[in-house]
Amino acid sequence: MEFFLIFFVILSSLFFVFSLFFYFAHKRNLRILNGISHIISDSEKSIPIIKMIDVLKEMKVDLETRYSEAAKSRENMRIILQNVSDGILIVDGDSKVAISNSAVCRFLGIEDCILEGKKLVEVLKNYDMLNFIDKNLKDFTDDSTEISVVYPERRYLECDAIPVVLKENEHVLIVVIKDITSERELDNFRREFISNVSHELKTPLTSIHGYAETLLDDDFKDVKTVKNFLGIIENESARMSRLINDLLDLQKLEEGKTKFEFQSIDLSKIVDYVSKIVKPMADSVGVELKISCDKEIYVYGDFDRLVQAVLNLTDNAVKYTSQKESDPKSVEVSCEVINGTDCQIKVKDTGIGIPTEALSRLFERFYRVDKARSRKVGGTGLGLSIVKMIVEAHKGKIEVSSELGKGSEFRVILPIFSEKSPKNGDSISA
Ligand SMILES: Nc1ncnc2c1ncn2[C@@H]1O[C@H](COP(=O)(O)OP(=O)(O)OP(=O)(O)O)[C@@H](O)[C@H]1O
Ligand SMILES: [Mg+2]
Repeated sequence: MEFFLIFFVILSSLFFVFSLFFYFAHKRNLRILNGISHIISDSEKSIPIIKMIDVLKEMKVDLETRYSEAAKSRENMRIILQNVSDGILIVDGDSKVAISNSAVCRFLGIEDCILEGKKLVEVLKNYDMLNFIDKNLKDFTDDSTEISVVYPERRYLECDAIPVVLKENEHVLIVVIKDITSERELDNFRREFISNVSHELKTPLTSIHGYAETLLDDDFKDVKTVKNFLGIIENESARMSRLINDLLDLQKLEEGKTKFEFQSIDLSKIVDYVSKIVKPMADSVGVELKISCDKEIYVYGDFDRLVQAVLNLTDNAVKYTSQKESDPKSVEVSCEVINGTDCQIKVKDTGIGIPTEALSRLFERFYRVDKARSRKVGGTGLGLSIVKMIVEAHKGKIEVSSELGKGSEFRVILPIFSEKSPKNGDSISA
């Protein structure tokens, strides 16, 4: 009897502790506990203790299942949130972070990405973002804004604030952050492109218009001046048509409308062809053109397009070498195998060179190191972007190194073609 009494006292204390825990843990569990407590209170009379233990065990299993389900769903929510590409930041009424995901840290360059429970001012260093959240926590209205950040990299962020009232009148602000950098850059690029094209067309047009007007006002007596002016008009109109052709070429390459007739080509044939075109021009401006190409290096490519690419590079090399004040003035075009899988066409000159800071922008449309100098030699700044697109359509890459005042070296690296190489099909679009 004494044993039963002690056991009952222990059981009751255990039950008391459990009751407290369960009461705070879950209301539903509280209902179950109430049921159990009835059983226990009746147990002295009719229900054996063994039965009570069984019920408690059952309840324990039930609670464990519920707890693990709750933990699983919480963990799933966390995983989902972390995988959302937009930044999600939920801020409570005390300006503390209630929930956040990794995109927020990525966009704003926050290294220690455990933000929950921390004050916003402690974790956000972007003044505009802080201001936006602060204002909307106070006003508690829907709002959106665009913010640009420079750290860890330049980004344009679209932020939407959504105020939400939770149960028990708890106010939180949900901030959704979208990375719209590529859209903004595309907008900027379009704007810049239109302004560049207009400018490039306006310059020759103005000069054609001016010289034509002068000719009309003149009585055509000075044949030398007339010829001179007509020569300028001819030059400028040729430049305009070159520009338009280049633009159309680029557009076709970009839209994949350029037809590539792929076949096995000996690199030396491309280089020979280009040298025949460039030689007279090089001679006329006093630049020595050297060719050294190993025979029988094959690539799988479109002959005309590869000629266009190498011609652009060689034309640049001759043009920008002729601009140098002092000797030596030479351009060397060579081709060789560089490893088991690749070969390269190298166009090396002893020309004016390119400043280091300009090298990374060289393949952008309309980019010219020295606009005035390039325009003087008839350049539109589209040549290298076309070269890059052609090379990439051949699964190759282009590299450049240069030293100001000493010369430049452009290297087109292409996969070597052997009968065993996989073919792209005889005719594909870029
Ligand atoms: N071999 C070179 N030596 C020095 N500068 C060069 C050389 N090749 C290119 N550049 C620089 O790179 C710029 C871009 O070259 P790109 O060929 O794209 O345009 P461009 O020669 O000015 O005009 P075009 O569209 O007629 O080729 C040039 O304006 C020039 O400043
Ligand atoms: Mg060029």
